[in-house]
Amino acid sequence: MLKIVVCVSGGGTNLQAILDAIDSGSITKTEVLAVISNNAGARALERAKAHGIPGIVMSPRDYPDRAAFDRAFTEEMCRLAPGLVVLAGFLVKIPEEMVREFSNRIINIHPSLIPSFCGVGYYGLTVHERALERGVKVTGATVHFVNEGMDQGPIIAQKAVEVTEDDTPEILQRRVMEQAEWILLPQAIDDIANGRISVENGKVKHKRQDKAR
Ligand code: GRF
Repeated sequence: MLKIVVCVSGGGTNLQAILDAIDSGSITKTEVLAVISNNAGARALERAKAHGIPGIVMSPRDYPDRAAFDRAFTEEMCRLAPGLVVLAGFLVKIPEEMVREFSNRIINIHPSLIPSFCGVGYYGLTVHERALERGVKVTGATVHFVNEGMDQGPIIAQKAVEVTEDDTPEILQRRVMEQAEWILLPQAIDDIANGRISVENGKVKHKRQDKAR
């Protein structure tokens, strides 16, 4: 059984997609131990509660400095000891000590086709605003392992989504969620839970024999 902790900051629609996929059986061998949010008002925490999953609030604002938060956050994660940490719209940078402790055991969903529109400052609606400003015709989402760099870890899966001429950032964000994020993230968790993913020389390899993708 893969035990996961999901980290969230906001709406939690990706968390919901994970919970729904566990309920429907499209994610197997997986249990959500806890949901951690830096934002006590996150709707994601209500979604966790509705599922009987413990919610934990940990914000850098509640600590004297960033190093104290990083230490407490890493300690809490070590206490929970998940097999996988899932960042599902989590707006806090993961401490380096946690990246080291959970090497190739932290994944993130990013709402663009990395390496486009990613890195420092590219989060939330901004990603879609920049994509529209640039006039790209295709965008999408990426699930990747988290390393020390921002959005630079090994890519697990990507899915393209069409951009249309009338798109606003909000409309595009919703389409990327519906057509890519809510599909990719649960699929990646199921792949990891079922041992279908490995990292070799900084790149993800999919073992395709057990399940057609
Ligand atoms: C998603 O677009 C995710 O890719 C990004 O933040 C958003 C979170 O949405 N990093 P939600 O909280 O899962 O609804």
